[in-house]
Amino acid sequence: MNTLSKLQSYMTGRKALLPAALTLSAISALIGMVPYILIWFIIRELFTAGKFFSTEVIITYSWWTAGTAISSVALYFAALSLSHLAAFRVEANIRKLAMQKILRMPLGFFDNNTIGRIRKIIDDNAGITHVFLAHQMPDLAATILMPLTVLILIFVFDWRLGFACLIPVVISTLIMSFMMGKKGRYFMNNYMTSLEEMSTEAVEYVRGIPVVKVFQQTVFSFKNFHNSIIKYKKMVFDYTKLWEKPMSAYTVIINGFVFFLTPAAILLINNNENYTLIILDLILYVLITPVFSHSIMRSMHLNQAFGQASEAIDRIENLTFVELPPISASPEHIINHDITFNNVSFSYPGAKHKAVDEISFYIPTGKTIALVGASGSGKTTIARLVPRFWDAGEGKILIGGTNVKDIDPKELMNNISFVFQNTRLFKTTLLDNIKFGNQSASIEEIERAVDLAQCREIINKLPDGLNTKIGTEGIYLSGGEQQRIVLARAILKNAPIIVLDEATAFTDPENEHLIQQTLKKLTKGKTVLMVAHRLTSVIEADNILVINKGKIFEQGTHRELLEKNGIYTNMWNEYQQSVNWTIKKELHYA
Ligand SMILES: Nc1ncnc2c1ncn2[C@@H]1O[C@H](COP(=O)(O)OP(=O)(O)OP(=O)(O)O)[C@@H](O)[C@H]1O
Ligand SMILES: [Mg+2]
Repeated sequence: MNTLSKLQSYMTGRKALLPAALTLSAISALIGMVPYILIWFIIRELFTAGKFFSTEVIITYSWWTAGTAISSVALYFAALSLSHLAAFRVEANIRKLAMQKILRMPLGFFDNNTIGRIRKIIDDNAGITHVFLAHQMPDLAATILMPLTVLILIFVFDWRLGFACLIPVVISTLIMSFMMGKKGRYFMNNYMTSLEEMSTEAVEYVRGIPVVKVFQQTVFSFKNFHNSIIKYKKMVFDYTKLWEKPMSAYTVIINGFVFFLTPAAILLINNNENYTLIILDLILYVLITPVFSHSIMRSMHLNQAFGQASEAIDRIENLTFVELPPISASPEHIINHDITFNNVSFSYPGAKHKAVDEISFYIPTGKTIALVGASGSGKTTIARLVPRFWDAGEGKILIGGTNVKDIDPKELMNNISFVFQNTRLFKTTLLDNIKFGNQSASIEEIERAVDLAQCREIINKLPDGLNTKIGTEGIYLSGGEQQRIVLARAILKNAPIIVLDEATAFTDPENEHLIQQTLKKLTKGKTVLMVAHRLTSVIEADNILVINKGKIFEQGTHRELLEKNGIYTNMWNEYQQSVNWTIKKELHYA
């Protein structure tokens, strides 16, 4: 599908707006030519009638000139209004449709596309289509019609002078089309890519400023940002150089009609042609030939805007072109809350190695399974397959015997509380933040969740209690406090299955203790899949899976695993040492 029909497809229901704008601007362009000819008629009258020119005729011509000029402007204004309506409509619809698609994306999509990037791609590119539709499109008619009309006129009045005009037009058009050809398009594509790269890197850089300051680094340590600027600079330089000579030649030739017309006129006069007529024609040509240079410039801008608009559309469509997780036509219900992983494998798109490699395990209803293992071993990935952040490549994940792919996504989400490794709170009131767990919860239920999650003390110290907005006006919560609020949200949701990705960041011992207590309350009687970083959290788990490179390396209860004297025992000894070390250090300070 080409860009125009793609853009037109975003018009939804008002498909006539753009054609109407084009028609109006075409009529405006044609009428816009008339004043030039009328002025020429006035000059001819003055020339040929000499002293005896008719004032009446001149006044009539003048009125017509003013009338046609004003109508042309009015029509162009109307065309622009319509094209703006069309452009805003398209822009809004592109944003809406992209957001609708984003909402249906698999959750894992947001891992690879930061919110900033998504917003930027959608917002910026939707904006780019505006320039093309609102401003350049109405000019399309004029860009084609005006030079054509002028071409006909210059040949009708005097074909010999017409040929003299044609030479610079042909040469400059050739230069232009050469410049706008393959190389130009190649540049446009690269230009937009490097602009995007540069702004993404700039965001990374700004995010990293605290690190830069603390470690006394300079911009050069942000190699990618630096390189993206250099790359952009080089490209703009190269492109400018590429244009340098052809553009100069173009400007001289397209504005140099007189150099071609005057010798032709002198030749004709020397050839005993009617002197007055030739001079009159010459005046007309000088009046109307600038249309050519305007049109060529316009077509260049049009071409540029068109290129940008098609790049923009492609970029948005590439972003949102992700295979949506299939939704079963006849969704099945969850009848039981046990979880089965049956030979499950999964690789991230484009990754060489499997992040999860033929994993099988079973969590009976109400039991807890813990995943432990080195960083990058695949624990988070396994946990995320349950709520379908991604779909397993091979094997099956069953809840109550039903494949998660066959469960209605809403029902699946309602049955799982997922506590992320690094959850952030929304910039809104604490109450709203907790209510995300269950919108219809009563205030008593919310208060109960707050107490169970040991959040009372956090809320008491805030100026407006539960109604305090966080993230603004100097009100921020510590990492550990945020985790407790997130747990209150999960408790309020009260889902029968809990998928828990324990935070890696250590909080202070006080917070840690509160969080452990809260976790116990949250997981009581639930089916739990828990990713644990603190081995104290897993001692009571019904089964512990030691994950290594996406595979289950060992499994058993804490006691059984210690008896095996394998990886887990090593991990446990190291963990004990680190805990002792912390305590000793604290004693030392005390
Ligand atoms: N969104 C992603 N896209 C591509 N690869 C990913 C993505 N997330 C994780 N990976 C890769 O998959 C592997 C497993 O990562 P995962 O996050 O599951 O590890 P983990 O065991 O949870 O580690 P940690 O203990 O540090 O949280 C890693 O090699 C990682 O590089
Ligand atoms: Mg993880």
